[in-house]
Amino acid sequence: MKNISQILNVLLAAALVVLTIKMVNLNKNDEVVSSVAQPDALEMIMTRSSVRAYTDKVVEKEQIDKMLHAAMAAPTARNQQPWNFIVVDDRALLDDFAQTLPYAKMASQASVAIVACGNIDKALPGVAQSYWIQDVSAAVENLLLAAHFMNLGAVWTGVFPIPERVADVTRILSLPPNIIPLAVIPIGYPAGEPQVKDKWKPENVHYNKWN
Ligand SMILES: Cc1cc2nc3c(=O)[nH]c(=O)nc-3n(C[C@H](O)[C@H](O)[C@H](O)COP(=O)(O)O)c2cc1C
Repeated sequence: MKNISQILNVLLAAALVVLTIKMVNLNKNDEVVSSVAQPDALEMIMTRSSVRAYTDKVVEKEQIDKMLHAAMAAPTARNQQPWNFIVVDDRALLDDFAQTLPYAKMASQASVAIVACGNIDKALPGVAQSYWIQDVSAAVENLLLAAHFMNLGAVWTGVFPIPERVADVTRILSLPPNIIPLAVIPIGYPAGEPQVKDKWKPENVHYNKWN
């Protein structure tokens, strides 16, 4: 009996040693991940491009949730978060976007589209109200980057401020008057290799004063 208890104690001690070593390694890995996280994020930003052709593969709900989380992580003026996002996976509605919006033909191929909207009831008062446009735009960019990060392809198709497009999306989605659609973002798995554009132009940068 005493022997069994001794053996059990040795086994327990060995298990503790193994667990401790594993936890130390885990922490080391965390450090490695955080030390390379910045270049990885930059790489993602630099390699994003608009994707307008998709395969039949369905975008999963978990991926949609991640894109929505990324969108809502965007900065907003006075943290108003004046937005709503409409997830559209109804084929008839996607086809309606494709037929109605002049530059959103790709919606008919997309697995899903997320419509990023401003919510005027949640926007700042007075002249600051228009900040909602920047707030929702920041969310759209976050969403596009999250899609790219998950190897999905997406494209920002513009709605606001073109009155006919706003009216069309409002009608298609039965939006109430306080909800203004800013962008329809068709999303799917890219068909083919997305082409990244090099947009770096040093002449667009000024230090201190203009000249
Ligand atoms: C406000 C805005 C509106 C856009 N509208 C459309 C659109 O209606 N249809 C489309 O195919 N792309 C649209 N785009 C995507 C641009 O064409 C694209 O971002 C640009 O050509 C640069 O290419 P890149 O996204 O691959 O870097 C829009 C982008 C922005 C920011």
